[in-house]
Amino acid sequence: MHWRTLIAAALAAPSHAMLRFSCSQLVIDRLDPLVQPGQTPAAHLHQNAFAAEMDYSLDLPSMATCTTCTFTEDFSNYWTAVLYFRARNGTYKRVPMFANQFLEPANGGITVYYIPPYDMKTPVTAFKPGFRMLVGDPGRRTDFDDNDAKQLSFRCWDKNFTGDSSGAPGMGTDTRYLPNRPCPGGIRANHFFPTCWDGVNVDSPDHKSHVAYSLNGQVGGPCPETHPVKIPQVLYEVAWDTSSFNDPNEWPEDGSQPFVFSMGDKTGYGTHADYLFGWKGDSLQKAMDAFCGVNCPQLETQSTQQANRCTIKPTVVEPIDEWLTELPGGAQAEIE
Ligand SMILES: *[C@@H]1O[C@H](CO)[C@@H](O)[C@H](O)[C@H]1NC(C)=O
Ligand SMILES: *[C@@H]1O[C@H](CO)[C@@H](O)[C@H](O)[C@H]1NC(C)=O
Repeated sequence: MHWRTLIAAALAAPSHAMLRFSCSQLVIDRLDPLVQPGQTPAAHLHQNAFAAEMDYSLDLPSMATCTTCTFTEDFSNYWTAVLYFRARNGTYKRVPMFANQFLEPANGGITVYYIPPYDMKTPVTAFKPGFRMLVGDPGRRTDFDDNDAKQLSFRCWDKNFTGDSSGAPGMGTDTRYLPNRPCPGGIRANHFFPTCWDGVNVDSPDHKSHVAYSLNGQVGGPCPETHPVKIPQVLYEVAWDTSSFNDPNEWPEDGSQPFVFSMGDKTGYGTHADYLFGWKGDSLQKAMDAFCGVNCPQLETQSTQQANRCTIKPTVVEPIDEWLTELPGGAQAEIE
């Protein structure tokens, strides 16, 4: 079975063997610990990056007092860009996130998957302390034919998570650009990380070169010689509640779509996701060895309501939620 079919199956029957859980919204803040460490403010707004700097020696599980994730041994940091709506009068309003399907009542945030090889036999090596990686390129504004671009996509939802694209992320009518029509049920962004590791480095200067996609693009597929170690596939989904921004009278008159990412990207090609491993001890390895499903007896859990209560105050204090005349940090939305 192809891994994308597997995800479709997992959604239909959530007991299927892959971790899928929510990490509720923690904070919206202008921090970028991977690409602009120590910089307050960073260039553009992210959701859920929780510190300006993340030293390799930090032991996240011993530092954190709570986690927004349903698996309570997971203190990893997962973050993505933030989406804004640009009205006809040129002002911006932040688009809220909402709970993904079956993960209600999560307070937005990120749906995280750890996907084992589809044969359910091939072992994978969980990440090491200090491990981090990035998928996507915040500066990209055109379509690319590299693996990275193939692993990023958007789904335009009709009401109640339906639509003509009901398969796994990236399938059907999912697009690599932001949907060019109103999506009554919101927009889901999908980010698949690489599945092969060089086995040595927990990071690299571009935060990408120490990992690679498998030769056939599948999780558990053969890894290149340079990156021989199979790692679980991490997938982030982010559900944007665009439903209150679907008035055609507020959409651009030229027929283009009105949403713009916090780095000034209105194409969607610049969507990106950052990962910093922070599971306690060998908990993730145990879950992977057990080919755990959504319900994983190997792991400790908390209720979504409890997870929603874990929040922090932003480091960079600035207006982000009123109608804004420019994006936080001043990124230009490249409006002609
Ligand atoms: C711009 O348009 C939005 C959406 O209609 C509206 O809520 C906002 O008040 C407008 N701002 C100004 C300055 O006209
Ligand atoms: C969406 O789901 C809710 C609750 O299950 C239901 O009440 C509603 O009718 C559904 N809406 C559509 C458009 O299917």
